[in-house]
Amino acid sequence: MQPFVYRQQELYCEDVPVSRIAQEFGTPVWIYSKAFLLYQLKQIQEAFAAVDPVICYSVKANSTLGILKVMRDAGSSFDVVSGGELYRVKAAGADTTKVVFAGVGKTDDEIRFALESQILMFDVESEGELDAIAAVARSMNVVAPVALRLNPDIDAKTHAKTTTGKKGNKFGMDIERFQELADKVLKTPNLALKGIHMHLGSPILTTDPYEAAGRKAIEVVAGLRKAGHDINWVNLGGGFGISYRQNEGPPASDYAKVIVPAIKEAKCRLALEPGRFIVGNSAILCTEVVYEKHEGGKTFVIQDGAMNDLVRPAMYDSFHRVWPVKSAIDMPLDLEGEIPGCRKVDVVGPVCESSDYFAKDRYLPSVQRGDLLAIFSAGAYGSAMSSNYNSRPRAPEVIVDGGKVTLIRRRETYADLIAPEELDD
Ligand code: LLP
Repeated sequence: MQPFVYRQQELYCEDVPVSRIAQEFGTPVWIYSKAFLLYQLKQIQEAFAAVDPVICYSVKANSTLGILKVMRDAGSSFDVVSGGELYRVKAAGADTTKVVFAGVGKTDDEIRFALESQILMFDVESEGELDAIAAVARSMNVVAPVALRLNPDIDAKTHAKTTTGKKGNKFGMDIERFQELADKVLKTPNLALKGIHMHLGSPILTTDPYEAAGRKAIEVVAGLRKAGHDINWVNLGGGFGISYRQNEGPPASDYAKVIVPAIKEAKCRLALEPGRFIVGNSAILCTEVVYEKHEGGKTFVIQDGAMNDLVRPAMYDSFHRVWPVKSAIDMPLDLEGEIPGCRKVDVVGPVCESSDYFAKDRYLPSVQRGDLLAIFSAGAYGSAMSSNYNSRPRAPEVIVDGGKVTLIRRRETYADLIAPEELDD
């Protein structure tokens, strides 16, 4: 499904011209397609239907309430990693009894909040955390449901900053500690071991790591059952890859092909925590060209979006397709080589950092001051990672449903920037 298509040389989101949205809400602006969000979620729901999974949309990928509400209404649950994310899913009206809570540094306050919210389970990352959960549960006179997070030492071949399932990462625990802690849970009255959790990294473009994780899950679950544990859940985390460049992202059914048989063999319920797969290609960041500058033998297209909006290129050298919203030259599938009629440019933002760019040495049609650009695949880890760096107000977010455009987050004002601060004179 293509949520963003060019019709008569102009980009549309579903049935709405992107330029109309830019005119109404200004730039930069995040534009989401509701149909695409629903389509992606459905791909996962259908691919894994044989094992009736609990899909926990990973809130960290995009935590805007309007997006969470779309997920909730379509039957998704949620994966959270902080009290703030739990607060958000509650504000979006989610059923917290299907929420999973991961993350290496849960505080007592966050643990209490999660227990009060009666979440499905904690993904426990260390012995210290297990002890803290037990203590808080004891003080509340409840039993805390936990899954232990295994570091399976599988190389998912992602960017060094987004790999999580290899020995030496801060996430999860090795199999020896895993077994020790499983035994400890058995002896702790306020804890109940419900399952095992693994998250391998993000984004993962091949299915082999999941196949290996599935095999590991079968083995670990069998061992735990033998030792007397009542294990019912295998949570394989998130990480499904998407197409940022061309069509490199596998369909959900490819992942299901290797995961479903393992879950059947393990005789467990499956939980998944997809974020990027659902929301990544649901959005563009639409920006406006401010200046063009020629310096040092290079051409810089300076536009009003910046690393405070979308930090991924600066942080992970990530690739995002960039193309004018109106263009006489059709956007080719391959944007990484020379393109007839185009010039080689860097697309940069106004922030005072050399790493503030969206595209480097990219072929782009000529653009003028005031022209709009689309930065594609901006839905995951875009608005959620945005900041006020350089005191730039955060951009608004709108969601398109057919011909209807709804504002789900207004543009921040200068007053918003200083609202939490105090001057003592
Ligand atoms: N579950 C756990 C435990 C995770 O750590 C993550 C992502 C997910 C699920 C969701 O992964 P997804 O399905 O979205 O790939 N900011 C980086 C990605 C960081 C991923 C962190 N963990 C980026 O922009 O590429």
